[in-house]
Amino acid sequence: MNEPILEVSDLKVSFRTYAGEVQAVRGVSFQLNKGEVLAIVGESGCGKSVTAQTIMRLIPTPPSVIKGGSIRFNNKEITRLTDKEMEKVRGSEMGMIFQDPMTSLNPTMSVGRQITEGLIKHQGMGRRAASSRAVEMLKLVGISNPEGRMNQYPHELSGGMRQRAMIAIALACNPKLLIADEPTTALDVTIQAQIIELMKKLSEQMDSSIIIITHDLGVVADMAQRVIVMYAGKVVEQGTVDELYYDPRHPYTWGLLRSVPRLDSSREEELVPIPGTPPDLFAPPAGCAFADRCAYAMEACFAADPEPTRLTRTHSAACWLLHPDAPKVERPVLTGGAAR
Ligand SMILES: Nc1ncnc2c1ncn2[C@@H]1O[C@H](COP(=O)(O)OP(=O)(O)OP(=O)(O)O)[C@@H](O)[C@H]1O
Ligand SMILES: [Mg+2]
Repeated sequence: MNEPILEVSDLKVSFRTYAGEVQAVRGVSFQLNKGEVLAIVGESGCGKSVTAQTIMRLIPTPPSVIKGGSIRFNNKEITRLTDKEMEKVRGSEMGMIFQDPMTSLNPTMSVGRQITEGLIKHQGMGRRAASSRAVEMLKLVGISNPEGRMNQYPHELSGGMRQRAMIAIALACNPKLLIADEPTTALDVTIQAQIIELMKKLSEQMDSSIIIITHDLGVVADMAQRVIVMYAGKVVEQGTVDELYYDPRHPYTWGLLRSVPRLDSSREEELVPIPGTPPDLFAPPAGCAFADRCAYAMEACFAADPEPTRLTRTHSAACWLLHPDAPKVERPVLTGGAAR
């Protein structure tokens, strides 16, 4: 079961802009196993979407440049594929769900055609087989009257329906990897819960691996097995959901957990936002990028960036506090976090 479908190693991605080079992803490494659901969390601008879109090679180059590292997906080195080869991989082995379905659905094409097109082009299906598969997919994602919906255009659907249609398109080719980038933030809470439940069910049925990108740690607890915490273009902590909630080690993770409400809490709790803002990625600091916002920062933190310390087989964190010579600090009471 621990067979990797995706291995990202020391991935570095920059944007060349008129003002200089933005180092959006600065050496990210992680692994995704077959059938696993992995969450990537972190504040806005920390490189979650750039990481995901680089895996799918959806960011145009230029402006983006893969500066280094590797992305191994299903025995292929993604960074070295031609655009044409990559198009085939995207059409047959990967699926992506975006926050705003309107940006990924084609407004000029009926929902049915958007599903059948990929099946015909990449899976070599005939028109009729593709059509019945599309109806089946629409039914599977809970769209009523799927035959009728086939001929409708995205603007004729409600927000929740569009999200479902997008999931149908992403899953129609039975992808080995599904990346969902903030898939539910634009939806109301009940529909969010339904969509998450649906993705979870479908991925189990189809044995797809999922990367879910979110600010919402509640979503993570509900759906993922493992979590990656990103900050300023790096992975600062990763572990199983339980390790991250019950034994977080990085002060940034503590900050994230204290800044979100608990889903299971009936009482009012004090939410503590993380003070300050993330660093400028045009000129990232030499030391730990979180140091100037960290209540526990020591001299070493400003001088050099810590390497990840391995805590268990699944849990690691990159913080000087984990150095054997570092002073022992009390972790703050973590009122935040999600319902478990
Ligand atoms: N086309 C671009 N040109 C220049 N810089 C970019 C471009 N796209 C992203 N960036 C920069 O890359 C960094 C990482 O952005 P990214 O979109 O990955 O953040 P994110 O973690 O997904 O944030 P959010 O939670 O807001 O979606 C940011 O500093 C962003 O400004
Ligand atoms: Mg993003």
